[in-house]
Amino acid sequence: MLEGKTALITGSSSGIGKVIALKMAAQGAKVAINYIDIANIKADAEAVVKEIRDNGGVAEAFAADVSKEDSVNDMIKAIEEKLGTVDILVNNAGITQDTLIMRMKVEQWEKVLDVNLKGAFICTKAVLKGMMKKRYGKIVNIASVVGFSGNPGQANYSASKAGLVGLTKTSAQELASRGIRVNAVAPGFIRTAMTEVLPKEVIDAMLAKISLGTLGEPEDVAKAVMFLASPESDYITGNTIHVNGGMYM
Ligand SMILES: NC(=O)c1ccc[n+]([C@@H]2O[C@H](COP(=O)([O-])OP(=O)(O)OC[C@H]3O[C@@H](n4cnc5c(N)ncnc54)[C@H](O)[C@@H]3O)[C@@H](O)[C@H]2O)c1
Repeated sequence: MLEGKTALITGSSSGIGKVIALKMAAQGAKVAINYIDIANIKADAEAVVKEIRDNGGVAEAFAADVSKEDSVNDMIKAIEEKLGTVDILVNNAGITQDTLIMRMKVEQWEKVLDVNLKGAFICTKAVLKGMMKKRYGKIVNIASVVGFSGNPGQANYSASKAGLVGLTKTSAQELASRGIRVNAVAPGFIRTAMTEVLPKEVIDAMLAKISLGTLGEPEDVAKAVMFLASPESDYITGNTIHVNGGMYM
């Protein structure tokens, strides 16, 4: 369904982004795996590329810190040279730095807003030229249930995710006439590295709020992203799909 399309998924060396990348490649897209070049993340990104190629797909890994405009612009140039202009952008890269407002340092606020919100803005801006030329594009922003519900200890994170919903609606309005659709997916509580580190009592408290009674899997989020990235959703823009097992309605 995505043959001939080039897809960039930010932060796709792990977790939800990795599953989205595998699915897009399986549907025929040429996939750009973005990773931030710290610690062992490059090896993880290369492993995702290998998995896609072993399954007959097309993928390349590209380093960039999404919160740095120069870094993103260099990446987009490299992607265009190797895989063509980006038709599908998934703004998935995200971080948490949780603590109560009373203890939250301005640096912690800024860091989370920089990656989660400014990063999506920078990446969106960077792919627009190519999409406008083709008069086609799909942008999917990965928000979060806490951008709607709030969550104690996540002032920075929930603000960044609520901001992404605003960015989604404004970009959808600005870009619709150019054939570019912009939507968001708001995951609930999904089993990944981001949630694995939480104490058992926090996980149990979250589970108690989930109507369907289980944590979500990256696969659940990826399925909604695939729908929004495909022609199946061509009459949908500026919207958010909630993938949260009934945790928030
Ligand atoms: N896991 C959940 O329960 C949950 C719930 C709601 C929303 N989300 C969102 O889903 C997205 C994916 O999260 P995940 O759960 O798969 O966790 P994850 O930590 O596996 O994925 C986040 C990815 O972003 C990358 N990243 C971080 N900073 C970056 C930067 N500056 N530049 C480029 N890449 C960077 C990380 O290296 C990592 O690969 C995030 O936006 C997260 O906020 C997750």
